[in-house]
Formats: sequence, C-alpha cells, structure tokens
Amino acid sequence: MTLTNDHDDLRIIGRADINDLDAILAIPLCDPDEAEHHVAASRDTIFSWDYSMARPGLHKLYEKAKTGQWNATTDIDWSVDVDVEAVMTKDLEVLGAGVDKTLYVGTPVERWDDRQWLEFGIHGRNWMLSQFLHGEQGALLCTSKIVDTVPWYDAKMYASTQVMDEARHVEVFGRYLREKLGGEFQINTHLRMLLDDIIVDGRWDMTYLGMQIMVEGLALAAFGFLHQITAEPLLRQVLRYVMSDEARHVAFGVLSLREVYEQMTDAEIKDRQEFAFEAAVRMRDRFMQQEVWERMGVDTREVLPIVLNDPTRQMFQSMLFSKIVPNCKKLGLLERNDAWLRRRFEDLGVIQFEDWENTGDEYLRFELGNEVATAP
Ligand SMILES: [Fe+2]
Ligand SMILES: [Fe+2]
Repeated sequence: MTLTNDHDDLRIIGRADINDLDAILAIPLCDPDEAEHHVAASRDTIFSWDYSMARPGLHKLYEKAKTGQWNATTDIDWSVDVDVEAVMTKDLEVLGAGVDKTLYVGTPVERWDDRQWLEFGIHGRNWMLSQFLHGEQGALLCTSKIVDTVPWYDAKMYASTQVMDEARHVEVFGRYLREKLGGEFQINTHLRMLLDDIIVDGRWDMTYLGMQIMVEGLALAAFGFLHQITAEPLLRQVLRYVMSDEARHVAFGVLSLREVYEQMTDAEIKDRQEFAFEAAVRMRDRFMQQEVWERMGVDTREVLPIVLNDPTRQMFQSMLFSKIVPNCKKLGLLERNDAWLRRRFEDLGVIQFEDWENTGDEYLRFELGNEVATAP
C-alpha cells in the first residue's frame, strides 16, 4: 500500500500518514456506560413554497418508498431461535477467521485455540451489528436534518420517508442485538467522530455526502456481504428488508448530489473531495475492531500493526468500498481537481471498484421479492 504524505491530509484527518498507528490509537475508545452524546450544531431550516415534484428521479423514489414500507414487528419472524455458537461456527467455516492466523506470531493471538477463535468471531459479529445499529441512529438523525435543510420540496418529501425507514432499522438491529445476542458494544470511536463531523457541518449537501454516499454506501456493501455469507435465517431476513430501503437511500444521495455538484466550482468540489476522503479513512480505521481486541484481552498495540497489513483484512475492507467508489465517480468527485480523490482512493487500495454499477442505476434490483445482487 502506498502511504499518503502531504499537508492536505494532515489538515483534514489530523495526521500526515493515514497508517500512523500512534495517531489512530491516541483517540480514546468511547465509554460503554455513556447514556447520551450531545453534538452542538447549527443549521438553517428552509421552507419551500414550490410544491411541485420537479425532479422525476426523486418523485419516483418517493413513490417507491411509499410502497416499500414494511413493519418490523409483523414482517420479521422474531420467533426464530438463534444459537449464537452454532451460527458462528457455521459462518466461520465460510468466512474463515477474517484474519490470516499465520501472521500473528509472537502475539497472544498465536496461542489461541478453537474456542478463543470462536469467541473472537462471536464478539466480532456482535460488534459489527452494534456498529450497524449506531450507524442507523446516525442515519435517522441526519435524515431528519435533511428534511429541514434541503431547499427542494421533492427532496424533503423523500427524506421524510427515509426518517421512518431509519427508525425501523434502529428498531430491527436493536431488537436483534438485545433479544438474540444479549446486548451490544458501544459505538466505535472512529465511527462516532465521523457521525459528529457529518452532523456538525451545516451545509445540507455535506449531510448527504457523509451519510447517503459514504456511511450508507458502506452499509449497503456490508449488509450484502453479511447476507451472502451468513446461514442465520433471522439475520438474513433482517438484512434483506433493510437492504431494500438502503439501496433507495444511497440512490437518493446520488440523484440529489449529481445535480448540485455539476454546478459547483473546483474549490467547492475540493471541500467535498476532502470530506469524502476523511470519511473513508475514518471508516477504514473503524474496521480495525479495537473494541473487540480489547474485549478479548489483547493489547491493540501488539496486533494492530499486523491487522493493518493483513491481506485477508484488506480484502474484506476494500470490498466495503464497492458501492462508495462508483457512486463518487458518478458524482464526478474522482476526477475534479487533478483527480485528487482518485489518488486518495488509490492510496486506500479501493480504486478497483470505480467501474462497478452505481446505486443510482441499480437500486430497483434491491426491491423486496428480487434476488439481491450481493457483494462479490
Ligand atoms: Fe438504514
Ligand atoms: Fe439508510
């Protein structure tokens, strides 16, 4: 992997080298006992007196959203019994441990027996679903903010449907974690920084870029991947329902921002490129699963240098960008300003997805009743 070293990156993410582990580890983990997290933010609330559904793409999405509603209480079969150990044993057969075990020589992980690897898998699953849960709450808050701040009537109408969608997603992941896995992990510290940054920014298009393009783009890929590998029927059902909404949400971001970005100056676009890059690094950092290693009693300083360069991890991690990169390309963000974002995505090892189908074109395939196109 090429390292990034320039002042731009230092200014944006607070470190010159995106792989600087000391800088990554200097950010404390979130307190698992914290009950509330307050973010001070100001924003303009905009009324629109133009009540025409002027944008056919958004109008179509709004109609799809109305017929695509489902009820988390009655449409999901919550009576399914989840034997966590049996499920993870089966899933790990398909997935492997998610790391290349041979690389961890000289660390406590080297001596782990099958039981400990299973425990690592179970905590890892719980952690992943917990981050989905917290991310869904972030989406709920961001989308309600978009209803306020976006100047277009048709976008306000669509966003209002997304608020309900996100409430349902918080409901299903929360219920699954509570009833089937016995509780949740705290929010990952890098994910919380990212959500804070998105919420603090008062520019309405930044909310879209951070949430609909970056966070939800990654979520859509992650849900598809987990849906493909897990044998657990309840989780598969939950993910399938959530994906049917999530594809619309990402399409909402692509359709809305395309119009706006076409009219922006290079300097304005540079701000957006930097924001997208920063979000990508935060999400990459999140996948080091610091909270899981700690739960297993492993000193993160010992393992993270290996995790960062573990090809198995890099493969999973890069796949999570399979929706983000083509969507950024569709928005014109890769090439503007001498291909600034293309070069950053090259540094992160994710540019290979640029010609995959963008979600603005593919979202209808995720509707309930269709076979889903999942991650490769
Ligand atoms: Fe969601
Ligand atoms: Fe969403």
